[in-house]
Amino acid sequence: MAAMVNVNGRIFDEHEAVVSVFDHGFLYGEGVYETLRTYDGRLFLYDRHMRRLRNSARMIELVIPFTDEELARHVSDTIGATKLDGKEAYVRVLVTRGVGELSYDLKATPKPSWVIIVKPLIEPPSEIYERGCKVVLVDVVRNHPKAVNPMIKSNNLMNQALAAQQAFQRGAFDGVMRNDRGELTECATSNLFIVRNETVLTPQVECGLLPGITRELLFELGGNAGIEVREQVLRDDDLFDADEAFLTSTTREVVPIVAVNEQAIGNGKPGVVTWKLLKAFRDLARAN
Ligand SMILES: Cc1ncc(COP(=O)(O)O)c(C=O)c1O
Repeated sequence: MAAMVNVNGRIFDEHEAVVSVFDHGFLYGEGVYETLRTYDGRLFLYDRHMRRLRNSARMIELVIPFTDEELARHVSDTIGATKLDGKEAYVRVLVTRGVGELSYDLKATPKPSWVIIVKPLIEPPSEIYERGCKVVLVDVVRNHPKAVNPMIKSNNLMNQALAAQQAFQRGAFDGVMRNDRGELTECATSNLFIVRNETVLTPQVECGLLPGITRELLFELGGNAGIEVREQVLRDDDLFDADEAFLTSTTREVVPIVAVNEQAIGNGKPGVVTWKLLKAFRDLARAN
């Protein structure tokens, strides 16, 4: 790794960057974050990521201690300090409750802490787009919206980490998580879509999932390309019987899914609709 890290406004080498063990982000996992990336050196969909960061923060009563413009300057300075070696930048912005007495009382932490991690982006290998990936249905249930709402992009990632670890142990690229009603929600690290009769379907936010920025864009890209993209309650069989399936995330764009557990999806190859959406996504991102 060759990361540079901005801690509350000061930029450090990855080996020097530290936060206090009394930070409630560390003690209690109380904080929110965003993952962004650049295309041609420019941050992609910055405004949308900031909107989601503020929404996550609002949902845990956390005050974001900078304006979007101030943060953009800090991100840009941190990118400038990072040796990217011709690669795009991976950018992670974290805001936590801050340092304070060991108490859940909000008064214990009057000053939020923030961190920006920048490192060269490692893009998925091209074979994953050409051949597609396998996912598995995991038995870790996605957080109930009335417990820790998955709409909060929380630094506490235990729920997703357990699901992803189970998926990796089973040789999969990602793990599909259900909610407590058995409905599909999303993958441990990405959003899930299926294609049926040329219509693209994705679980509703109300099922309990993170509304991905890439997911949001897909509704718009589908509209422009004459492909219907809509939300629908989905269950295991919808995935097994789909013509195509794919997952989306900021760092992975649109990745075709060709197998679930040991069963092929459609003809076991990336589908035409998936390809069209991936191409539309890349055309937009590269024109950023
Ligand atoms: C649980 C989860 N769902 C979905 C996504 C995709 O969101 P985005 O497209 O905003 O990267 C992520 C990305 O990190 C995620 O962690």
